[in-house]
Formats: sequence, C-alpha cells, structure tokens
Amino acid sequence: MLVRLLYASRAVDASAAAIESILAKSREHNPATGITGILCYGRGIFLQAIEGSRSAVNALYGTILRDPRHQDVELLLFEEIGERRFGGWTMGQVNLSRLNASIVLKYSEKPELDPYAVSGAASLSLLEELMATASIVGRTG
Ligand SMILES: Cc1cc2nc3c(=O)[nH]c(=O)nc-3n(C[C@H](O)[C@H](O)[C@H](O)COP(=O)(O)O)c2cc1C
Repeated sequence: MLVRLLYASRAVDASAAAIESILAKSREHNPATGITGILCYGRGIFLQAIEGSRSAVNALYGTILRDPRHQDVELLLFEEIGERRFGGWTMGQVNLSRLNASIVLKYSEKPELDPYAVSGAASLSLLEELMATASIVGRTG
C-alpha cells in the first residue's frame, strides 16, 4: 500500500554543499527502499514530498525528524495514494531561488516559499506545478 507524506522544515545549514550531501544520501538510499519524491528548497526552507510503502515512508520520516541538519519539522500532509506522482525521481530537487516567483505566488499570498503559511494541499499543488513546468532536476527513472 502506497502513501505520500509532505513536510516542511527550516535548514540549519542552507549552503549548496549541505543540500548536495542530503540529496546524495537520498539518492543512495531511496532506490533500495522504493522511496520516490521531491526536495524543494528556498530561503532556508525545505519542502519535501516522500512516496512509497507506508512502512518505508514512516521509517524514513522518523530518520528525517531526528536529522540535526534542519529544525521545526512540520507534517503538512499524509495520505494513502493509488499511484505515485513523483515516481520518476529517487529524490528530485528544485532550487526555488532560481525560479520565476510567479509559480510560488500562484499558491500563496506572497511570492516566497512558506509552506508553514499555506495548506498541505496548496504545497502539493506547488510541487505538481513545478513538475509540470519541468523545474525539477535529477530525474533518474
Ligand atoms: C531535508 C532532508 C531531507 C532528507 N531526505 C532524505 C531522503 O529522502 N532519503 C534518505 O535516505 N535520507 C534523507 N535525509 C537524510 C536522513 O535524515 C539521514 O541523514 C540519512 O538517511 C542517514 O544516512 P546514513 O545512515 O547512511 O548516514 C534527509 C535529510 C534532510 C535534512
């Protein structure tokens, strides 16, 4: 049975090197556990979608919660799903600072990524829009 989980957090170290090392770990681990998803970051905030079996998603979320490289981890959405939306990415990445702010503005009051201020459904819609506009890099599937 498949589930999708969406959370937001604040980076402790938002350097390119820190984010690269998180992505490298994700791409190393996720294929074996069947996890797919997207990691989006901008202005020191992470927005991540994780899909996979309920057990694998729960286990990974537990690990992520304890990771000292970010804080204020807030669960935005958890749902059972019939199919994956981000199945082509072992962990796709989006650097929002390189994007047109209008994509973010479409789903929020301000043109800045702030998943703490909007609904989980709005954050998921933003991720889908990023996928539709080919803003996600790191496709491996
Ligand atoms: C924002 C964020 C997203 C992460 N996403 C993943 C992920 O998708 N998959 C993963 O295996 N680890 C992810 N991690 C890293 C885990 O928290 C943990 O550090 C890693 O899985 C431990 O790997 P190791 O035991 O090989 O050192 C993420 C960490 C952060 C801070």
